[in-house]
Amino acid sequence: MLFKQQALLRQKLFVLGSLAIGSLLYLVARVGSLDRLQPICPIEGRFGARSQAEIPLRALQFKRGLLHEFRKGNATKEQIRLHNLVQQLPKAIIIGVRKGGTRALLEMLNLHPAVVKASQEIHFFDNDENYAKGIEWYRKKMPFSYPQQITIEKSPAYFITEEVPERIYKMNSSIKLLIIVREPTTRAISDYTQVLEGKERKNKTYYKFEKLAIDSNTCEVNTKYKAVRTSIYTKHLERWLKYFPIEQFHVVDGDRLITEPLPELQLVEKFLNLPPRISQYNLYFNATRGFYCLRFNIVFNKCLAGSKGRIHPEVDPSVITKLRKFFHPFNQKFYQITGRTLNWP
Ligand code: A3P
Repeated sequence: MLFKQQALLRQKLFVLGSLAIGSLLYLVARVGSLDRLQPICPIEGRFGARSQAEIPLRALQFKRGLLHEFRKGNATKEQIRLHNLVQQLPKAIIIGVRKGGTRALLEMLNLHPAVVKASQEIHFFDNDENYAKGIEWYRKKMPFSYPQQITIEKSPAYFITEEVPERIYKMNSSIKLLIIVREPTTRAISDYTQVLEGKERKNKTYYKFEKLAIDSNTCEVNTKYKAVRTSIYTKHLERWLKYFPIEQFHVVDGDRLITEPLPELQLVEKFLNLPPRISQYNLYFNATRGFYCLRFNIVFNKCLAGSKGRIHPEVDPSVITKLRKFFHPFNQKFYQITGRTLNWP
């Protein structure tokens, strides 16, 4: 009898204990996510026409969660009006380079409370069909934001597509342009790896990188291969410079963004005239992924998708040497034009 009572008591204590721990965990999660979930900020009316330096960052941080909800398309017309939300054309665009780390850069910049990202690649300026839909179509593709925030989009195809510089210039001749680059041979191999993975997914075979990158007739670098052409950064940049002065570009070192993201992000904050708000707290190294991941707050953090950071196939070292030799003079020109030396081999 006594034993039965003791067992009952133990059971009750266990249930009570679980409830207490559950409530505590809930409270911690709730407090941690308040800045994402807070519905209405009472100081909204004070925003008015502030200069960029006066961006009310704390308040914006406070309302990110709300924006996140609206991004999912849940906003009613009343909420949009109430919160003074707008869909703004981008003030800055990550124009490339494909496989340079464009997604990581966009996601990391989105840690800044004054930045709102367009989640999808919109392909407005490089796709004739989309471009024909007009600028209002493009604007409607942008996320909701507060007027003081800046919207950023990324479409890496912009960098290499002939018509894009003129089209962007027509939209906004003073727009800020971000180019994230990696050592050209590594970038070309990364580009190849992505295509190879696509083929494998469809059970198709594909050529080896060496066969594509080297012309078997001449034994020289095959400049017709797209992954090689994309890595001749200076050739593409020269087309852009017909429309925009070099001061409107900022080069991000994609290799350093992998190993040491914060200083690269701080340079971008400066370029965009944003007060420094991204800190080491927002970035933590995830040993399993082998990359830095993002921490928005105590509860919400995320790593990039598994498709970012693929293992590259092994490439014949003599091909790598040949490619590096080939890219060398183009790299020198790129450093000279941009004023950023990247010490590539
Ligand atoms: P790899 O897959 O070759 O490693 P993009 O977004 O332009 O397609 O670039 C993809 C590249 O971003 C990846 O190339 C990866 O190396 C790089 N990258 C940079 N920072 C990263 C991060 N924090 N997490 C995952 N990938 C990152």
